[in-house]
Amino acid sequence: MLLENIRILKKYVNFRLKSKPRGGHGIHSPFVYDLYTNCIDTKQKEAIFEKIETLRKELLKNTNHIPRSNFGFGTKVIDFSEPTVGSVIKNSSTPPYMGQLLYRLAKYLKPQSVIEFGTSAGFGAMYLANGNLNAKVTTIEGDTNLAKIAQDNFNKLGLNNVTLINGDFEMELPNILASTEKIELVFIDGNHSEEATMRYFKLFSERSSTETLIIFDDIRWSVGMENAWNTICKDKNVSISIDLFNCGMVFFRNGIVKQHFNLRYSPF
Ligand SMILES: C[S@@+](CC[C@H](N)C(=O)[O-])C[C@H]1O[C@@H](n2cnc3c(N)ncnc32)[C@H](O)[C@@H]1O
Repeated sequence: MLLENIRILKKYVNFRLKSKPRGGHGIHSPFVYDLYTNCIDTKQKEAIFEKIETLRKELLKNTNHIPRSNFGFGTKVIDFSEPTVGSVIKNSSTPPYMGQLLYRLAKYLKPQSVIEFGTSAGFGAMYLANGNLNAKVTTIEGDTNLAKIAQDNFNKLGLNNVTLINGDFEMELPNILASTEKIELVFIDGNHSEEATMRYFKLFSERSSTETLIIFDDIRWSVGMENAWNTICKDKNVSISIDLFNCGMVFFRNGIVKQHFNLRYSPF
């Protein structure tokens, strides 16, 4: 764990040295400049954020145990006992600053379809769905107990643009691709292995259009995830890749020179 923390710290120092300062100075792509200054790096608060975070506070206090999941709960914390609901939420849910970014991306880009891999308790999906209430959000979670918690959260917020599928990504992917007319916003936040990430990228990028955005969470989760991210950035169909350190985004926009950006976005 210590070596892993040192690896990430080194990466972070390197990232800070290479990344553009906040404010958008030095971003020469009009598309990326606008996206950064009017969407990614704004601190605008919305009333819905508080409602979502009230649900998180309640769940963090939940000391009920849930059976260990075959899907690993999406956390690096090694715990051989049955975790509590609160600890799963603490260690694997999308944090508020990342949720707010998802909300703003959905609001700014107005995708008609949103697909999330890895629902957990539904925090990412709640931010995405509220960012564009007209979007059809499909979110997939393998663990049945987490899927129930997520559905309960969607009901509490009265969200009727979210479809939750309790299943395995691999099994559900063909149906999802077949039933989604245009792939517009995809958030991949589960099964963080190099092979799986590359497979999901390939399948979604084959269906991409100029409007498609794919967001990969935890691109520095492991050496394998970093390899996948670096390969994805070089893919000939990717026109814009944006590295925010914890997550990465790729666009497939037509008529734009291929470019990579390291941009700062943090909770601070
Ligand atoms: C990091 S968590 C997702 C966090 C969530 N996006 C949020 O906004 O809070 C990853 C989730 O992916 C699920 N998962 C991992 N591999 C999966 C697979 N192959 N099929 C279905 N679910 C999977 C895990 O059960 C876990 O709940």
